[in-house]
Amino acid sequence: MTTTFSHTANNEPMSLPIAVLASGRGSNLAALIDAHEAGKLPVDIVLVASDKAEAPALRSAEAHDIPTLALDPKSFANRREFDFTLFEYIYHSGAQLVVLAGFMRILDAQAIQAWQGRIINIHPSLLPKYRGLHTHRRALAAGDAEHGASVHFVTAELDGGPVIAQTRIPIHSGDDEETLAARLLAQEHRLLVACVDAIARGRVALRDGVVHCDGETLREPLRLVNGTLT
Ligand code: GRF
Repeated sequence: MTTTFSHTANNEPMSLPIAVLASGRGSNLAALIDAHEAGKLPVDIVLVASDKAEAPALRSAEAHDIPTLALDPKSFANRREFDFTLFEYIYHSGAQLVVLAGFMRILDAQAIQAWQGRIINIHPSLLPKYRGLHTHRRALAAGDAEHGASVHFVTAELDGGPVIAQTRIPIHSGDDEETLAARLLAQEHRLLVACVDAIARGRVALRDGVVHCDGETLREPLRLVNGTLT
């Protein structure tokens, strides 16, 4: 199956309707909103949804008049019911792409089956290294010389879907979790905006489980260099 997004007759990208899922702070969401408001990102953020009613991400969406949704997992019998309900709302929002930006839940395989190639996640490690939590701590503990972040298409496997692009930063000798996380976060914002932009413009798509860029199979993740994917 191929998912590509629409263009106008003169090949200008249409605004791609996107939904953003976030459980917390929402700095990646803010980066998307800023890029959109600066006229640099051809998307329409049609929904911001969270599993935490108090998530700051919801407050920043409200401040920008973006529709929000808070669903409490405790109101559902199980994870699958929560996820099916969440994706029902997303479907009705008109979103064609779902961006997981600090959404701290594993998604049910059946609930996302129909969304293959239309969900991406940002993860703070150089995947396939350090899936899951505490990525900065683990990179430091391993004595890695560099760290980074990845944007990937979401599959049922946690942080395991095909990687679209990565950004890399050096680890300095004086780094601790906090300094490393803060330095990486600034790059994450650029990486996520660049990836959403590439998908919205139809440059990047998932075909038969493989990432394609500009019509070619991607043999290794794109790299973010000076704010541009190469
Ligand atoms: C980011 O580090 C992202 O990579 C990870 O969770 C964090 C979310 O940060 N998945 P924010 O809520 O976007 O500020």
